[in-house]
Amino acid sequence: ETVARSSDATVTAMDHLFRRKRVGLLKPLLSLSLVFASFLMIHKLRLSEKDAFGVKHLRAAGWCGSECFSFKKEVGKTSLGSSESPAPRKEPDTQRVSNRTATWDAQVLNCSEDASVRTQDWFRRLDPRFHQFVLHRHCRYFPMLINHPEKCADGEVHLLMVVKSVIEQHDRREAVRKTWGREQTVDGKTIKTLFLLGSPNIGKDTKNLQKLIEYEDLIYKDILQWDFMDTFFNLTLKEVNFLKWFDIYCPGVRFIFKGDDDVFVNTHNLLELIGFKVEERKEADLFVGDTISKAIPIRNRQSKYYIPKELYDKPYPPYVGGGGFLMSSPLARRLFVVSEDLELYPIDDVFLGMCLQKLHLSPELHPGFRTFGITRRRVSSMNSEPCFYKNLIVVHKLSAQELLKMWSVVHGGDLVCAQRFSI
Ligand SMILES: *[C@@H]1O[C@H](CO)[C@@H](O)[C@H](O)[C@H]1NC(C)=O
Ligand SMILES: *[C@@H]1O[C@H](CO)[C@@H](O)[C@H](O)[C@H]1NC(C)=O
Ligand SMILES: *[C@@H]1O[C@H](CO)[C@@H](O)[C@H](O)[C@H]1NC(C)=O
Repeated sequence: ETVARSSDATVTAMDHLFRRKRVGLLKPLLSLSLVFASFLMIHKLRLSEKDAFGVKHLRAAGWCGSECFSFKKEVGKTSLGSSESPAPRKEPDTQRVSNRTATWDAQVLNCSEDASVRTQDWFRRLDPRFHQFVLHRHCRYFPMLINHPEKCADGEVHLLMVVKSVIEQHDRREAVRKTWGREQTVDGKTIKTLFLLGSPNIGKDTKNLQKLIEYEDLIYKDILQWDFMDTFFNLTLKEVNFLKWFDIYCPGVRFIFKGDDDVFVNTHNLLELIGFKVEERKEADLFVGDTISKAIPIRNRQSKYYIPKELYDKPYPPYVGGGGFLMSSPLARRLFVVSEDLELYPIDDVFLGMCLQKLHLSPELHPGFRTFGITRRRVSSMNSEPCFYKNLIVVHKLSAQELLKMWSVVHGGDLVCAQRFSI
């Protein structure tokens, strides 16, 4: 079944590429071949550069930038239990031309399991579904397969849209790029967009999926990809790897919207909310979304969010639904710092709640963020009522088609909404 699904995704993506080509044949073909020619040149240059440095661990990582495997040492903190890290090399560091105080330095190419866990009593009692997570919990930062150090390097970015996605969801990314994630400048405020991805899961058509995603990135240049398996329990890895990435590469960003690839975001209302918060000078601690307080871990074994007692046996701190939330960049940096002292937790939004708690902060509840509790039944009037979308900030669970359609209705200009919902 998985094979069928992944080849489906391949077909869809191919379909898409071909559709692009058919539009006007000559121009796109020309620019494509140009892109490929320059890519080949860059690739050659990089290879020879790396050869000169004697890097043996260069993997067939596609368009891994020179940032991907910069072997900076910070052994105390980032020796993540792997003995596979490359032999120390002193010379290249001194040869570095640019003085970037930090680049992506994660070097765990092979996250081996923490065997000591297996001998513990609670591990034997633990639901086997969590074994993989617990055994690999210590591996936190992973090498990057696709990086964009330039994304927010120059100039101020008012709002960075950061979207969790997986390789197969090509059509959702496409819809986001055309709607709320469109990179643009509104009243002098720059909006940029990034998608966060892991690597293809074992058993899928790994090689082709990787090729496709690299191709997609070549066109849009908006993908960050890390070399960890893109599984549900690994979503927290996406969180912490992004926070670290952000800390390194995004000095000029003011706000981050972080969300899923299946949400509707009213960009206009989001910008307005940011405007209010800036006026109120609430920027420093800003963390707004669909907040849940006093939640407890779900003990129903059928639930996707099931957490066994052996893993966690306390109430959750207040946290925000991961479907979409807004935070300020200073807070993101502080979250990064405290996150490093916390053990990874398999549910990513709860993990961020734990980080906030360490900072003695509570996320702010805003009724415009609807990431929980909207009924998915198609008959629900909420799901098809454009005024609902016009007046909210984030609404969750839309297919790519629904998103495109709702976006065009909401922005169509013919829409008259008598009463304004509370936002
Ligand atoms: C690089 O720059 C930082 C500050 O920007 C400075 O502290 C550091 O000494 C510099 N490193 C080198 C090798 O020049
Ligand atoms: C990864 O590490 C494990 C344990 O150290 C080892 O058995 C395995 O062969 C390694 N895999 C690769 C691809 O290096
Ligand atoms: C997360 O990804 C790492 C690296 O690919 C893998 O070793 C680990 O098993 C994954 N964990 C889960 C719970 O899927």
